[in-house]
Amino acid sequence: MSVVDEVKERLDIVEVIGRHIHLQKSGRYLKGLCPFHTEKTPSFYVFPDNQRWHCFGCNKGGDLFNFVMEFEGLDFRTALEELARRAGVELKPRTPEQVEAESEAERLRLLLEAAAAYYHTLLLTAPQAAHARAYLEKRGFTRDTIETFQLGYSLNEWDAARTYLFGKGFSVEDQIKAGMLVEKEGGGTFDRFRNRLMIPICDRRGRVIAFGGRVLNPDDQPKYMNSPQTVLFDKSTVLFGYHLAAQAIQKADAAIIVEGYMDVMIPHQAGYKNVVAPMGTALTEAHLQQLQRLTRRFILALDPDAAGIHGTLQGLETARQTLDREWEAIFDPRGLVGVEGRLKADIRVITMPEGLDPDELILQDPTRWEQLVATSQPVVRFYFNQLLKQENPQEPKGKARIVDAMLPLLSDIADSVEREAYVQDIAMRLGLDARSLLDRLRVRERAQAVRRQAAVKTAGRTPLSGDLEAYALTILIRYPEVLALADAQLAEAQLEPIHDDDFSGVYRLIWSAWLELGGHPELELGDILPPDLLALVHTWIATPLPDTPLEQWKRDMVRTILRLRERRLRDISKRTQSLVAEAQQVEGDMKAERYLATLQNLSEALRRVQQALSR
Ligand code: UTP
Ligand code: MN
Repeated sequence: MSVVDEVKERLDIVEVIGRHIHLQKSGRYLKGLCPFHTEKTPSFYVFPDNQRWHCFGCNKGGDLFNFVMEFEGLDFRTALEELARRAGVELKPRTPEQVEAESEAERLRLLLEAAAAYYHTLLLTAPQAAHARAYLEKRGFTRDTIETFQLGYSLNEWDAARTYLFGKGFSVEDQIKAGMLVEKEGGGTFDRFRNRLMIPICDRRGRVIAFGGRVLNPDDQPKYMNSPQTVLFDKSTVLFGYHLAAQAIQKADAAIIVEGYMDVMIPHQAGYKNVVAPMGTALTEAHLQQLQRLTRRFILALDPDAAGIHGTLQGLETARQTLDREWEAIFDPRGLVGVEGRLKADIRVITMPEGLDPDELILQDPTRWEQLVATSQPVVRFYFNQLLKQENPQEPKGKARIVDAMLPLLSDIADSVEREAYVQDIAMRLGLDARSLLDRLRVRERAQAVRRQAAVKTAGRTPLSGDLEAYALTILIRYPEVLALADAQLAEAQLEPIHDDDFSGVYRLIWSAWLELGGHPELELGDILPPDLLALVHTWIATPLPDTPLEQWKRDMVRTILRLRERRLRDISKRTQSLVAEAQQVEGDMKAERYLATLQNLSEALRRVQQALSR
């Protein structure tokens, strides 16, 4: 048994959580007010049966360890140590390097926390900070916002912060590592931040990991001085405001991405809290990955100037490359030629009125912000309008360039009706025939699909993260003995054998037809399947597959099935969650209880699938 399991065995989750939160029994569960978000009616559940917890308000959940990590703000290792101590379980010692790295990170965190508190106090009370306070007032900041974001002020001295932090026991070396000091060439150091408005930058849990410092004296450069990269701070992954915005993003089911610190803080103050900003860099994959866990709707609110538009277009491209896609089979008259990925995200763009940043606009008139958000342009429309400015839409060559640039974005649209509507709209505005534009789109999609299929073949590996069902069926049809092998491996992981529910739509038809054949050697697929599906199967049979051992096919098969299950369980859980929320609106509705039980089972199943996948 692993130490983790041993700890879990010895401790009772109800007892551990019950020390922090008042829990009440409710059927087979215990209920309490969630410690991770503010609420008046309890949606935080503890499940003694499987020793797990879940909050249906903020959607956090997990086991004993997750709770302690989240509640006490500990990393896994520290939580493990803490719980192992309570459970009387002995741990293997960490390597000296691990110990050093962890204790360094912890020291730097404490240091930055102390620095933030120091700057904050200065801002609120120091006579030297009077101009900083006046500046914030001029920019419309309330006392509440200053506190929420723990804004601060750095004195106009070369060593004030260093001296203060040193006095608090933080070495000069650590201050350099945390990015607080700049090293001079000939030796010695000075405070990086002087006479600046200090904006703490936090990680996802709200711990300070860096600072942005805005000039107060317009002669100073640069406008914003930021901490350098450190072990705690990676500029390209952090989203400013994330920890304060995450819940609102989930609730609004939309994330608004703005450009700067001010554009996050002032909307937040005005009650628009689903706003984050990258750290003065382009939108990266890491940014989008984080946001994707909260929502699939993204609204980019960026500058209307040339650089801003360029940034927006770049951000859109990153989004197109990064965000999850669902895969759709592309057919031609001879059958399936491959798959095309449709974006599972709704991306929109707000173009700010010339010369106004979101913060300024909101301070002038918050309702204008709401209007802008409500009337944000779908990415396709935004892009098209951009192209109209760059190209000459009167000229045939200009038209062609616009069309070619638009095709990939059109292909991204998941809904075929919506896709066609856009095609028609664009055709009309360019004075082209919608039918021919649609044809052009189809030709491109087919070519893409074929190319993708070919790339898969040459790579000779698990293809098309998308068309998983087709892939699973292809393996089965080509190597029928894989079924029994894969089932056995699933059984070993205590998972169900491959069954109807693993497939959907036409794929389920093909699957059952294929199963049927197993018991009827006299039959052929063509006796059971309609011609178009038979044609599809024939294209699979004709696809050259890499020459890999059966063992490899079995592994591929199991992984594919697990990923299908993961996807489906996620979908169902999502839907069940909204049922729970709905039922909970009604006092005494017994359905909530039932849905909860279902949800519990679902998340348990999902966990098992994910565990199996990670092996
Ligand atoms: P902006 O120059 O648009 O500043 O830079 P802003 O956010 O509107 O700030 P105010 O309203 O003038 O106070 C946008 C973002 O780019 C980063 C910062 O994150 C800033 O919020 N930036 C900008 C820097 O990191 N360094 C700079 O020198 C300038
Ligand atoms: Mn601004």
